[in-house]
Amino acid sequence: MVNLKLFTLWVLAILYSLRVSSASESFFINFGSPENVTVNNRTFDSDNNLGREIFDSTRATSVNTTDTNSLPKGDESTLFQTARVFTEESRFRFPIEQHGWFLIRLYFLPFLSSSRDLTTARFSVLAQNFTLIRDYKPSKTSVVKEYSLNVSTNNLSLDFRPETGSFAFVNALEVFRIPENLLPEEAGLIGTQKNLKLRTHAMETVSRVNMGNLSVSRDQDKLWRQWDSDSEYIVEAHFGTPVMNLEAVNFSAGGIKDDIAPVYVYGTATRLNSEDNPTTNANLTWTFKIEPGFDYFVRFHFCNIIVNSFGSKRQIVFDIFVNSEKVESIDMTEVANGTLGAPYFVDAVMRKARSREGALNLSVGGVMDVSYPISFINGFELLKLSNDKRSLDASDVVFPDGSSRNKSSNPSIGLIAGLSAALCVALLFGVVMFSWCVRKRRRRNRQMQTVHSRGDEQIRKNETGESLIFSSSKIGYRFPLALIKEATDDFDESLVIGVGGFGKVYKGVLRDKTEIAVKRGAPQSHQGLAEFKTEIEMLSQFRHRHLVSLIGYCDENSEMIIVYEYMEKGTLRNHLYDSDNPRLSWRQRLEVCVGAARGLHYLHTGSTRAIIHRDVKSANILLDENFMAKVADFGLSKTGPDLDQTYVSTAVKGSFGYLDPEYLTRQQLTEKSDVYSFGVVMLEVLCGRPVIDPSLPREEVNLIEWAMKLVKKGKLEEIMDPILEGKVKLEELKKYCEVTEKCLAQNGIDRPTMGDLLWNLEFMLQVQAKDEKAAMVDDKPEASVAGSTVQFSVNGVGDIAGVSMSKVFAQMVREETR
Ligand SMILES: *[C@@H]1O[C@H](CO)[C@@H](O)[C@H](O)[C@H]1NC(C)=O
Ligand SMILES: *[C@@H]1O[C@H](CO)[C@@H](O)[C@H](O)[C@H]1NC(C)=O
Ligand SMILES: *[C@@H]1O[C@H](CO)[C@@H](O)[C@H](O)[C@H]1NC(C)=O
Ligand SMILES: *[C@@H]1O[C@H](CO)[C@@H](O)[C@H](O)[C@H]1NC(C)=O
Ligand SMILES: *[C@@H]1O[C@H](CO)[C@@H](O)[C@H](O)[C@H]1NC(C)=O
Ligand SMILES: *[C@@H]1O[C@H](CO)[C@@H](O)[C@H](O)[C@H]1NC(C)=O
Ligand SMILES: *[C@@H]1O[C@H](CO)[C@@H](O)[C@H](O)[C@H]1NC(C)=O
Ligand SMILES: *[C@@H]1O[C@H](CO)[C@@H](O)[C@H](O)[C@H]1NC(C)=O
Ligand SMILES: *[C@@H]1O[C@H](CO)[C@@H](O)[C@H](O)[C@H]1NC(C)=O
Ligand SMILES: *[C@@H]1O[C@H](CO)[C@@H](O)[C@H](O)[C@H]1NC(C)=O
Ligand SMILES: *[C@@H]1O[C@H](CO)[C@@H](O)[C@H](O)[C@H]1NC(C)=O
Repeated sequence: MVNLKLFTLWVLAILYSLRVSSASESFFINFGSPENVTVNNRTFDSDNNLGREIFDSTRATSVNTTDTNSLPKGDESTLFQTARVFTEESRFRFPIEQHGWFLIRLYFLPFLSSSRDLTTARFSVLAQNFTLIRDYKPSKTSVVKEYSLNVSTNNLSLDFRPETGSFAFVNALEVFRIPENLLPEEAGLIGTQKNLKLRTHAMETVSRVNMGNLSVSRDQDKLWRQWDSDSEYIVEAHFGTPVMNLEAVNFSAGGIKDDIAPVYVYGTATRLNSEDNPTTNANLTWTFKIEPGFDYFVRFHFCNIIVNSFGSKRQIVFDIFVNSEKVESIDMTEVANGTLGAPYFVDAVMRKARSREGALNLSVGGVMDVSYPISFINGFELLKLSNDKRSLDASDVVFPDGSSRNKSSNPSIGLIAGLSAALCVALLFGVVMFSWCVRKRRRRNRQMQTVHSRGDEQIRKNETGESLIFSSSKIGYRFPLALIKEATDDFDESLVIGVGGFGKVYKGVLRDKTEIAVKRGAPQSHQGLAEFKTEIEMLSQFRHRHLVSLIGYCDENSEMIIVYEYMEKGTLRNHLYDSDNPRLSWRQRLEVCVGAARGLHYLHTGSTRAIIHRDVKSANILLDENFMAKVADFGLSKTGPDLDQTYVSTAVKGSFGYLDPEYLTRQQLTEKSDVYSFGVVMLEVLCGRPVIDPSLPREEVNLIEWAMKLVKKGKLEEIMDPILEGKVKLEELKKYCEVTEKCLAQNGIDRPTMGDLLWNLEFMLQVQAKDEKAAMVDDKPEASVAGSTVQFSVNGVGDIAGVSMSKVFAQMVREETR
């Protein structure tokens, strides 16, 4: 009886979950992989989980790449590692609850697998009977193709059709509903009074551009759209100046939500450079490649984020052109009745007859007779519309004179010659690479066999060849103690490169000459063991350019040893103060901040549940031989709050001086606690002094208190590291202090997210780089700081060297609870 009840409950639960999952109408699929992967906050399910009603996966085989080096960089790379191969026509049917706009993304990377060479694939892809791709011959690099279409059937159909004798493949796929107001019902045809209805067309995204010389990555966009930097399209870059002012964007004015375009698009712009010359008379122009014979939907994004420097009364009027045809006059005083920062966009369609050239030029230009004319644009989107043969493929174009651009028919002799020459070079290159790889692999294998003669199963299992120690095996490599003793001369004191709360850190060298850092836990404390475990789990789960990589660990004989990649330049702290190392330049400091922020941003957003580092400080940011920053020491890290909670309640841990006051008083931990600690690091970076320095006069002991007081008074130069004097422009210093101050806000909600922070830092770095380039002309470049000897002696963790610290602490707590 009870069992029956349970069973009913179980069935109900399953039915409910089915209903819920189809109601979300989102399908993210990682083809060929047995695992689900989370990329930028959405989970791509293994295609093994696909319901039969969507696709019968038994009819297709999965393949793995054998060459992980060819994978693109970045978080998306895991999606490209595997694929599904279709040898016959295959149809997906995605159930749709409500008619409307959907977005499809297809991921392709033709790799070499053990059973197939995907570059030989030839196939067509259709969605709802629209030809998205015909006779596709995959290019060598990874491609993400994006389409939007209006679905008014109960299923969205997607067909993969191999050419006879060939096959089709796909690495990953996204299908999801987009907001209905994202695309208009119709748009005006440029140069006419007519409108074109859009819902009867499928659209392919050709270019999506963020002005202001910065790209916007998929994780910064609600619909995971990639926005390229305009710098690759702008024609005469010296006419333009990038502008950024994220704070100015006001989504409550103008009635546009941030799903139209994120704040990162509206908060940056490229403006006509007219400050030096009041009579500037020029257009800013960007040029885009297009395929002749199609209509194109264009969208121009505007947001007045620049007017403040001219006063708000300033009239701003300019025109936008497409291929010399005027599209519209923009009068900023009319946008949302002149509210500053109101996002705004203009849509239009460019007819095919006007685009036989294969290029689309976008221009914005000032209206004549205005001194210091202002014109600018924040973003631009270019979408190809399907033609009346329901196709988006260039081979389906028929020009008025009857000619077509069929790709496969009579290619010219020159093309054939070029192709065969390229083929020869590629072959030669391939042969050389292949033999090189084989040699390298053999050598490695031999080394590994001698080094690890004990025979560890994890190593045996790994057959892909590349680097065995650094393999992506999930748990990391368990080193024999003997090997670690050998690498560190039996933990020789002369090899100690750091001492922390956890124990000592040694430099070591493996037999294959790999340099390593060995952290050896002091004899058991219970807490040490927990942190040891956390650190290994975290590090083996997360791999990122800006997180220190785990090489392995050793728990033999109750040892707690963690082996990391060796970071030649040691800690950030030791390049700021209290050491003989040359001090970092301002640009290096910004680069380090950007790197560390990237690592933390990845921790916060790289998986469905955020990871909070909890111990961000300058001694936990390490620098490699090129001064690239990596975040280290994950012993205190914690998984962030569940979706239904806003914080994790936990005992306070972390390093003195860096602790988030909110966390300190309420024991509530969020990602913003890391942001606070990062703000403290930014202060250290600027001021070049420790967070707590008992040797200083009383009011200067606490860096945060002292610096923030002076910042509020506007005495920015007084807190700056004297070494930097004259090297940082006042406005950049201001911006830096402003951002730092926000990170140090009392309440977490007032602090920026790591993503916003990263964005700001990147922009500052870019400005600095530009300034330096300009300065190079008459100034000799600064001597580089390279060449310093390897040294990193980490002082005790909180390094609260006695001295009336309890007083400072008490005062701090009082300050926060006030
Ligand atoms: C992947 O996610 C699905 C639910 O979306 C779940 O049923 C399945 O067990 C997961 N697979 C793995 C390997 O985690
Ligand atoms: C991740 O997704 C959740 C739920 O859809 C959302 O609330 C959250 O803001 C997203 N986070 C990011 C960084 O996009
Ligand atoms: C949608 O797919 C389901 C399952 O394959 C099928 O039963 C249904 O008839 C399809 N509906 C339409 C309109 O094609
Ligand atoms: C692909 O690799 C995964 C693990 O990396 C493995 O489980 C799977 O069996 C492989 N599939 C094929 C077809 O080789
Ligand atoms: C696609 O074409 C087939 C046959 O031509 C037709 O039965 C089907 O309804 C069409 N589907 C859509 C979504 O237009
Ligand atoms: C597009 O969607 C609308 C409603 O959302 C529907 O009425 C219309 O028939 C659809 N048009 C096409 C061509 O699919
Ligand atoms: C755009 O940024 C790149 C590097 O990010 C830089 O080299 C270039 O000079 C910048 N262009 C402008 C116009 O600022
Ligand atoms: C944003 O716009 C609304 C509507 O115009 C206005 O009431 C509000 O003050 C604006 N907010 C800011 C911060 O300017
Ligand atoms: C676009 O601009 C480029 C560079 O200014 C010019 O060479 C080209 O002819 C223009 N193309 C069109 C279609 O206006
Ligand atoms: C800007 O471009 C438009 C269209 O090509 C042209 O009519 C106008 O004269 C240009 N303005 C300047 C100042 O070059
Ligand atoms: C602009 O002002 C007019 C009249 O005052 C008002 O009707 C309209 O709603 C306002 N528009 C916006 C976007 O605030």
